[in-house]
Amino acid sequence: MTRIRLGVNIDHVATVRNARGGEWPDPVRAAELAVAAGADGVTAHLREDRRHIRDADIEALNALCRRLSKPLNFEMAVTDEMREIGLRILPHAACLVPERREERTTEGGLDAAGQHNRVAALVREFNAAGIRSSLFIEANPTQIRAAADMQAPVVELHTGAWCDALAEGRTEEAAAIWEQLQAGAHLADDLGLEVHAGHGLTFDTARAIAAIPQIRELNIGHFLIGEAIFTGLGPAIARMRQSIDEGRAAFDHRHRL
Ligand code: PXP
Repeated sequence: MTRIRLGVNIDHVATVRNARGGEWPDPVRAAELAVAAGADGVTAHLREDRRHIRDADIEALNALCRRLSKPLNFEMAVTDEMREIGLRILPHAACLVPERREERTTEGGLDAAGQHNRVAALVREFNAAGIRSSLFIEANPTQIRAAADMQAPVVELHTGAWCDALAEGRTEEAAAIWEQLQAGAHLADDLGLEVHAGHGLTFDTARAIAAIPQIRELNIGHFLIGEAIFTGLGPAIARMRQSIDEGRAAFDHRHRL
């Protein structure tokens, strides 16, 4: 089975930097280190309010990724401002996310079905420009079908609610969301979409979700940057890589029996 790619989201290095102003710690240095430690790509979210990543960061990250021949996954809201930035810098991929100013993080998935025309127009433009759009959606059949209808190449399934339910001991709810994630990954793959997943993942949840065979990429940020405080970024990424590979190997093993 194919190895799962690990995209490392470095937004929260910028959060720490911005807490004091100035230039330190530098998210570009973190991205370089992440790649050296085995990240397959770099993810960064330029939010409307620029609370962590700034315009200059995204330009520098794009240049770094080009130099290192690694994909930059530019997370962005579906707005005219972000569309223009995307078309100017031409990242490898753009992950389209919903955004609300008052949220602490991206709380729900994009309503690709409800906002079909707006999202479809952007996906069309990005497809033409060679940018791989990835729709960050809940594992919900209506959203997955909408993504396929508008010819988005990729969906990223939102794992946040599953991770929260597990962390808070809501096991029945976690099990129900797990079923949706499995079924969603299966459906998306059947419809020809490449399947990614992310949000709230830890070593344990990344290991578990790596067993879903259709998943090709995981995007992980907050937990890794937090772990880096204790172990350093390189070892945190190496351990995450190991968790993901263990999850996938467990699947392979079960299916060879
Ligand atoms: N994928 C998407 C689309 C996200 O918005 C985020 C958070 O920025 C992540 C993955 C990573 O989530 P976390 O920081 O919780 O690992």
